[in-house]
Amino acid sequence: MAEMLTAEEVAARVRDLPALPTVVTEVLRVTRDPDSSVFDLTEVLARDQALTAKVLRLANSALFGFPRRIATLSDAVVLLGFHTIKSLAIAGSAFSVMDRAVEGYGLERGWMWQHGIAAGAAARFLAKKWRPALAEEAFIGGLLHDLGKIVLDSYVGEAFDEIIKKVRRENKPFASAERDILGFDHAAVGALVAEAWALPGDLVAAVRYHHSPSEATEDTALVGLAHLGNIVALSTGFGVGADGLAAPLDGDVLAQLGLGVGHVEEAIAQMPDALADSEQLLELER
Ligand SMILES: [Fe+2]
Ligand SMILES: [Fe+2]
Repeated sequence: MAEMLTAEEVAARVRDLPALPTVVTEVLRVTRDPDSSVFDLTEVLARDQALTAKVLRLANSALFGFPRRIATLSDAVVLLGFHTIKSLAIAGSAFSVMDRAVEGYGLERGWMWQHGIAAGAAARFLAKKWRPALAEEAFIGGLLHDLGKIVLDSYVGEAFDEIIKKVRRENKPFASAERDILGFDHAAVGALVAEAWALPGDLVAAVRYHHSPSEATEDTALVGLAHLGNIVALSTGFGVGADGLAAPLDGDVLAQLGLGVGHVEEAIAQMPDALADSEQLLELER
């Protein structure tokens, strides 16, 4: 029988993950402040040259693709806007945390990133059909939703046989079998990471409830989008690990978002492009 984890053990592991650079916290602050100007955002980003270079590379990738080349930071901020720059800054700095094998979940190096990019792209696509203003936040929620897997990696690796037995015998979602065996699931742990990174409450909620959207009571706008983003990424084979497809769709989410199965099918149909993007981005970032 696997040992149940205590909250303290989980918190200690969360603290061991690299923090988001302070420049990202500053970017979040500036993009939230209605009084900020393009100049304020450019000034914050320009303090970190490595991140600036990444933002420009991402801005010129197909995923964020702008019809003409973006050569300078101020062009990027003006042409892509505050929200997209925020996505780029978070994606650029989360990459180093996500670009690793997560063996406990059967994820080879690159798969975590690919799954996140696919879920983010799907969540953004669906947000555009529902509340376009949320599109970039939805991307970040999708990108980061499985962060907790990195923390639980070795624990799940050790308890994997027990967890998967429970999934098969009781026909349970993988996350709920994780909770039964370990005491925590990767969604709850991922939310702790997002909190430690000082991400806004709606992003923390998206991570926390991506497998249980009906349990979310506040900050719910991004939850359903992260849930659907994950389902689309899995059903198109992006970064599917050893937990496989044991992540059922909560049909109520579609009704809440006023979306239909047709929208999900559309999101699935545009996934091959997202794969090409995620591979291109891996090349760019490494
Ligand atoms: Fe998950
Ligand atoms: Fe996932």
